[in-house]
Amino acid sequence: MKNLNILVLGSGGREHTFCWKLAQSKIKHRLFVAPGNAGTSRLATNLEIGVNDFEALKDAVIQNNIDFVVVGPEDPLVHGIHDFFLNDAQLKKIPVIGPQKWGATLEGSKEFAKAFMSRHNIPTAQYGSFTAETLQEGYEFLEQMNAPYVLKADGLAAGKGVLIIDNLDHAKKELSNMLVHQKFGKASSKVVVEEFLSGIELSCFVLTDGTHYITLPLAKDYKRIGEGDTGLNTGGMGAVSPVPFADEKFVNAIQETIVKPTMEGLKKDKIPYVGFVFIGLIRVGDAPFVIEYNVRMGDPETQVVLPRIKNDLVELLYATAMGKLAEVELIVDPQSATTVVAVSGGYPEAYEKAKRIDGLPSTSSTMVFHAGTTLQQGEIFTNGGRVLAVTSLGDDHKEAVQKSYELMEKISFEGMYFRKDIGFDL
Ligand code: AMP
Ligand code: GLY
Repeated sequence: MKNLNILVLGSGGREHTFCWKLAQSKIKHRLFVAPGNAGTSRLATNLEIGVNDFEALKDAVIQNNIDFVVVGPEDPLVHGIHDFFLNDAQLKKIPVIGPQKWGATLEGSKEFAKAFMSRHNIPTAQYGSFTAETLQEGYEFLEQMNAPYVLKADGLAAGKGVLIIDNLDHAKKELSNMLVHQKFGKASSKVVVEEFLSGIELSCFVLTDGTHYITLPLAKDYKRIGEGDTGLNTGGMGAVSPVPFADEKFVNAIQETIVKPTMEGLKKDKIPYVGFVFIGLIRVGDAPFVIEYNVRMGDPETQVVLPRIKNDLVELLYATAMGKLAEVELIVDPQSATTVVAVSGGYPEAYEKAKRIDGLPSTSSTMVFHAGTTLQQGEIFTNGGRVLAVTSLGDDHKEAVQKSYELMEKISFEGMYFRKDIGFDL
């Protein structure tokens, strides 16, 4: 095979993990990442280009002879980066791993996702969808539901667009705030009101080349800032894979009632889709229900899913780009992986940056994945809320997380915080 030039888009722990796994490939390749972080700079050439700067990305793709692009975050997908490539004479033959705008609407619009699930009989919470013009109907819909009330801004709202409210009057007020007073800007000009589902959440990932698909290992993430799942929602404080409570019967139910109809639904609707489908699930009783779709890998779930995949990732993604996923057999490490995320003090609210990070391991055999980090004169400084994630493997999640904590104890920066209970509920 010829030497492959690969461009990864994004700058988080997910993208560092992609680079780490791609870098292990036996296929000759060169890695580029835009914009990347201090961690990716050791494995790839960081390009100072934002993920939504399509014109600058085009120049970089041409200049560096990129063979295919892997898109990390949802934003450029929802904004149509794949379509941009297809509509450009110089870029149209360069595969993009990540769906076109239409498929990305599964994440970009909650209403679109709910209608998709309803059309294909995929188990999910009952819902209604409302605009400022139908506010009154929204109130009536809320009146005939039971508390708690789930209100979701239709569009992307940086993970903040979901409200769960105990009281009916408060729910009505917030519905009006979202629709009439644009609480989440344009994202809440439509609102999905949903039945509340009670259960434990987990994440399922599928990789598709548009025809065939493979289901990747399940994972569970820890979204709240505080121990015991308390406090504000974050981008993710830790993750484990596999998910101990997902037994064979439950895994089969996910495959049969959710993964299959989702992937067949894309085909029936003729929605072209190459890339990752991230299905956010909740177990209600014995049955899986879909909470949401995302059109990318999860962060920090990637930090526990990719280390368990034994396949050569360049081979796997190249097969995806070439429509040859049917020829690939997924090989999964039976060990457990855990990751613990270290954040800046104050996150997810205001926090300070530019704190020097000490104690980072020098060997690349450890899995310390950078997120908000930057390299300055040979030293590494914090540059975001989520700073890094420490992944370990073990015979079970308890052994793995113990190793993650041992490694984490050696790392320090001013204001550093991490949850000390990742996986303890399992
Ligand atoms: P979403 O952005 O749709 O993933 O929602 C964010 C979070 O809100 C989810 O991870 C769940 O914890 C919670 N959530 C969303 N929808 C529901 C629902 N119908 N019932 C219970 N919790 C929900
Ligand atoms: N860990 C959840 C997400 O990536 O959206």
